[in-house]
Amino acid sequence: MSTIKAMDPLEKIAIGLALSMMTVFFSAVVFASAGLGVGVPTCVTNLPPFAEGKIIRGSGKNIEVHAVAKMWMFDMGDANIGELRVPEGTEVNLYLASGDVVHGFHIEGKNVNLMAVPGAVNNTKVMFDKIGEYKIVCHEYCGIQHQMMAGVIKVMPEAEYNKTMQEEQQQAQPQETPQAQQPEKTQDKPQEKPNGGQQ
Ligand code: CUA
Repeated sequence: MSTIKAMDPLEKIAIGLALSMMTVFFSAVVFASAGLGVGVPTCVTNLPPFAEGKIIRGSGKNIEVHAVAKMWMFDMGDANIGELRVPEGTEVNLYLASGDVVHGFHIEGKNVNLMAVPGAVNNTKVMFDKIGEYKIVCHEYCGIQHQMMAGVIKVMPEAEYNKTMQEEQQQAQPQETPQAQQPEKTQDKPQEKPNGGQQ
């Protein structure tokens, strides 16, 4: 008691202000989490790091994206490297790994600020409910081309998105036919088994 009485009145005010600010900040965090559903990015420990980008489509407009940051681009599993195209209203469940060193992953206009860390996978969810282009920038120095390391998430009207994907699938199909015929030609040489004696 005697120490509080001996305290400078200004010091008491400073402590009071600090305590009330901490209370406000803590309440804001609880409100954002419980009331607004704002999620905090998390490190995923049950998923081993992956080396290539991948898009896994779930039901409706939920998709899971495995993104890999490497010198000096973002592979998000899209046919166009550095891009991720999604229809309007998509919620992206984003998993981020690194192919080499530590990179940053910031999505312009979104509350997303992740690190791509070698040996680890980080996860967050992002809702894209407005059409437009959202730039991705690497914001962690990662080598001489760091300032060039960027990507984009293109949020498209659903009809346009479906049309584009159909066109790409049709373009990809004619290439599959010659590839499918190639194994038949190599079957002409079945004796070529350099590892014949090994199992
Ligand atoms: Cu990647 Cu800077």
